[in-house]
Amino acid sequence: MKNKHIVLGITGSIAAYKACSLIRLFVKAGAEVQVVITPAGKEFITPVTLSALTGKPVVSEFFAANDGTWHSHVDLGLWADAMVIAPATASTLGKMAHGIADNMLLTTYMSMKAPVFVAPAMDLDMYRHPATTANLDTLRSRGVQVIEAADGELASHLCGKGRMQEPEYIFDVVDRFFHHQEHEATLQDLAGKRVLITAGPTHEHIDAVRYIGNCSSGKMGLALAEDCAARGAEVQLVCGPVSLQPKHPAIHTTWVTSAAEMHEAATRLFATAHAAILCAAVADFTPAHTAVQKIKREGKAGMTLELVPTPDIAASLGALKQPWQRMVGFALETDNELQHAADKLKRKNLDFIVLNSLRDEGAGFACDTNKVTLLYADGRQQAYPLKSKTEVAQDIIDALCPLLP
Ligand code: C5P
Repeated sequence: MKNKHIVLGITGSIAAYKACSLIRLFVKAGAEVQVVITPAGKEFITPVTLSALTGKPVVSEFFAANDGTWHSHVDLGLWADAMVIAPATASTLGKMAHGIADNMLLTTYMSMKAPVFVAPAMDLDMYRHPATTANLDTLRSRGVQVIEAADGELASHLCGKGRMQEPEYIFDVVDRFFHHQEHEATLQDLAGKRVLITAGPTHEHIDAVRYIGNCSSGKMGLALAEDCAARGAEVQLVCGPVSLQPKHPAIHTTWVTSAAEMHEAATRLFATAHAAILCAAVADFTPAHTAVQKIKREGKAGMTLELVPTPDIAASLGALKQPWQRMVGFALETDNELQHAADKLKRKNLDFIVLNSLRDEGAGFACDTNKVTLLYADGRQQAYPLKSKTEVAQDIIDALCPLLP
């Protein structure tokens, strides 16, 4: 974030006051902030407050009030490393989507050469209105990043009616973007390598509508896929049913449902992979029979489901592993963690295993953070503090790269 130029657009929402905290976070991290505010925005927060925080006059009109000096939106578009519109009202989002440039903020958006982030703020009915949904989709398709909750749900829904995503969260998204950009520009230590990653849960169907599944969100696997791709790898992602979508163009995704399908796809793709990271939470058992129709409750006193074991994908790839291939597995344990992880490392023929304990707060399924210990085949161990899954992914790939031949 140091020395980055951020154009902060503020529109007429009650959440405008939160822009102050956001400015402070940006300035504290070493960024320069230029505020561009809409006329309605000024009804909620005064330019005096904002310019005191940024150390720069606030831009809101095309012309400076007294001397006729022209504010150039084109210059702002070239100056910026990122444009963040927070809060973004339904009206501004609509005008952005349709190219209506009737104020300084909108002309700046249309001249913007840097990536644009928007943090929508409005009440839930406005957010859910088909017009807003369509406008946000249009903006997304144009590469604008919409800052909402990590799992894709509406920010306003999670944070309460009319509330914008928190400034800390918005800061984090922009900070990670810059971090990623620098990382991508400098680190290409996986160029020319093919990496297979399994991710997400599997669903084992009982009948036409029911299945046995688990709480894996796929976040850790997708973070690994994004990091490998950013570092130059061609990634084959074999992913169970999750709501997330991989972003990097070098990630090729094979969507699967069951352990058997994941096993088939992973085995096929492993043959040409330099490394495999088995991150999926694969079901250990699957129903012996899947009913084609929905099973009826009528006429049954009780019910017993017969289960049979699924293939252990990691173990079967471990048996196929060639001297030039590397394999990383995961162990999610609740007790005797190190011993169980060390057993799996050996049984599955892994180069190292990533241990996360469910006893650690903030680690495991569905959350955005993880706390891991790496156990290597040569007996080395390395414990890491609690970090975001993006950072944990970077640590894991940092550990994998030196092992590749
Ligand atoms: O034995 P356990 O399921 O705890 O081992 C976890 C590791 O093995 C993970 O890396 C997981 O992705 C992998 N695994 C697999 N196929 C299975 C079960 C686990 O690839 N059927």
